[in-house]
Amino acid sequence: MSDKSKLVGMPLDRVDGRLKVSGGAKYAAEFSVPNMAYGVIFQTTVPTGSVDSIDSTKAKALHGVIDVITADHQVITQNPGLTDVFAKNVRFSGQHLAVVVAENFEVAEEAAGLVEVKYTSQPPQVDMNAVLDKAAVPANSGRQPVMKRGDVAAVANPAQRVDQIYRTPPEHHNPMEPHASVASWTADGKLVVYDATQGVTGCAQNLARHFKIPNTDVRVIDPFVGGGFGCKGMPWPHTVVAALAAKAVGRPVKLALTRRQMFTSNGHRPETYQHLTLASDASGRLQSIQADMVNETSRAETFLEPTGNDAAMTYSCANVDVSMKLVRLDIGSPTFMRAPGEASGSFSIESAMDELAYELKMDPVQLRVLNYADTDETKNLPYSSKSLKECYRAGADRFGWSRRNPQPGSMRDGRFHVGYGMATATYPANYRPAHARAEIDGTGRVLIQCGTQDLGTGSYTILTQLAADNLGVDPWLVRVEIADTSLPEAPGSGGSTSAASAGSAVAAAAQSLRGKILALASTQPQSPHNGVPQEQLDTGRGQVFAKSDPSKSVAYAELVARAGGMLDATEAGAGRDNKHAFQSFGAQFCEVQVDPDFGTVRVTRWVGAFAIGRALNMKTLESQLRGGIVFGIGMGLMEETFMDDTFGRYVNTNLAEYHVPVNRDIPAVEVIVVPEEDPYVNPIGVKGAGEIGITGAAAAVANAVYHATGKRVRDLPITLDKVMA
Ligand code: MOS
Repeated sequence: MSDKSKLVGMPLDRVDGRLKVSGGAKYAAEFSVPNMAYGVIFQTTVPTGSVDSIDSTKAKALHGVIDVITADHQVITQNPGLTDVFAKNVRFSGQHLAVVVAENFEVAEEAAGLVEVKYTSQPPQVDMNAVLDKAAVPANSGRQPVMKRGDVAAVANPAQRVDQIYRTPPEHHNPMEPHASVASWTADGKLVVYDATQGVTGCAQNLARHFKIPNTDVRVIDPFVGGGFGCKGMPWPHTVVAALAAKAVGRPVKLALTRRQMFTSNGHRPETYQHLTLASDASGRLQSIQADMVNETSRAETFLEPTGNDAAMTYSCANVDVSMKLVRLDIGSPTFMRAPGEASGSFSIESAMDELAYELKMDPVQLRVLNYADTDETKNLPYSSKSLKECYRAGADRFGWSRRNPQPGSMRDGRFHVGYGMATATYPANYRPAHARAEIDGTGRVLIQCGTQDLGTGSYTILTQLAADNLGVDPWLVRVEIADTSLPEAPGSGGSTSAASAGSAVAAAAQSLRGKILALASTQPQSPHNGVPQEQLDTGRGQVFAKSDPSKSVAYAELVARAGGMLDATEAGAGRDNKHAFQSFGAQFCEVQVDPDFGTVRVTRWVGAFAIGRALNMKTLESQLRGGIVFGIGMGLMEETFMDDTFGRYVNTNLAEYHVPVNRDIPAVEVIVVPEEDPYVNPIGVKGAGEIGITGAAAAVANAVYHATGKRVRDLPITLDKVMA
């Protein structure tokens, strides 16, 4: 990018902030189209077996009900791509079975309560720990389930060994915005859907596949997303249900999932079992790491949560044996949830490193520095950049780590036990080239178009900054359009990719358009620079000026107006090499206070230091990192979905009983962004910040609780009963 950047890095306020607080930013459920009906999904109440009959007579008789659509409806029987939407074999409780369509939401919901179903059901298997012996390494998981180097068995008598089992529970995403789809069919058979999604392209392709129509006949639009965290990352059946309902009743249909349905219809973070064995020499050098990991998945899908990646990658170690296995249960399919793999997997390795530090009577930071990995030993590649030592140093300094008395239970604040804990944070710096278009009109206004998404993270704002800098215009002249399949294609917003991927494409399009403007300036007869070579010209604030005499300038608007009133450029972001490993790192420092009488844990201070490449916007960046830490505190202390083993049903499917942190639970969270230049990671040098903040966080809490109390909790979340046990 241009080294004359002025805006990139600045803490620019969100360009969509005013729309957000004034209600002008429309989420999927807020779109309405003429003649729209409302759909409510009807779900199974048993976890296994078969559906013998569905009687919707009473539901259909209710005034205002338009139709009740089941697997027998002709819109399904006549569309072979839809036959799996309402399956007759029950695979989990909460599986979609029918959709009620009515004149309004309330009637549809009441009618759904009148649908009568008869099942033949068997007792479910929903307890992963009861069938751990059935865990198996999956084929075709799309992940690498086994990672080995050296020979773990050769380390027979290490000076120190930590051999422990760590567990994380099922968790559900709870973005403020639940899923919603508003589907309409045009007279010529095209489908238009407003959908709450992290990827408009993938959503459209999934719909096209189900209805057996070309991708180009489906348009998906989603200008604002109220959080995703992974549950909007994959297309889920309810969007197809909305579209088939619209087709069946011949009217547009709005279908919004309830908060309760958010616990059954869009995946969850799977429960994990993590058996970790670390061996070190007397000095603390790691000699072997063995990780036997298991996660639950459904009968239908092979979802591997890569919990072993961190054990294999975070530290330098010659002998490593990591395997990740699956147990199939009568549950809904798990999916990606903020830092899938790293959030759960960092809990075991970062807790185990803390345990090893106590065994060695060594400082936990020092132990990590001693085992620093200069290269990615899983890929045998150098890092494109790695600034983890700087993160340890900056975080420890700011936190006051040196004030820590290493003796557990030794620090007090009044009657509270005080603990300091730390952990390494890490997440891959993913990147997938995207496309973007930049346009300028004869008044100097700029339009940026890119089919990426803004999950609430600040994409609109950083794309505005990148466009303004790379084009050489003021940001208030830039308008950004995203999240519409009619725009240049961009990948889904998952895996912390959007800033890097969409950002590189927008920067490229803006640079390309700037080149065209420069060419106009040096060739237009009326231009003051006519005949001047482009190398002697520069740009800024919407002007082309002579490097030798900046007062000699011409406005972009004037050049473009004379050239026909519109100029544009469409570009793809450049690829990157395969000679580097691309990874973000950070260090989490947590202070807790534990009540010795009640076992309650309160996080009282937090410092997180992260190296994530170039900072595009310090304000939205810090918010992303802080949000990840808050999520991690929730993971450490609160989040857990409880399964009723008899009925195979999650029981705390609401925000009263599924606990996430509220303001009162969160202290001042200090975020340090460690400067890092990375010329390899992608054209704009950005590593992404959506997920790394949660990684290591739960372990930092657990390590702080141990330091405060001498009680090691290896089973998340760290609730008071476990502290007192
Ligand atoms: Mo994220 S779990 O890749 O939305």
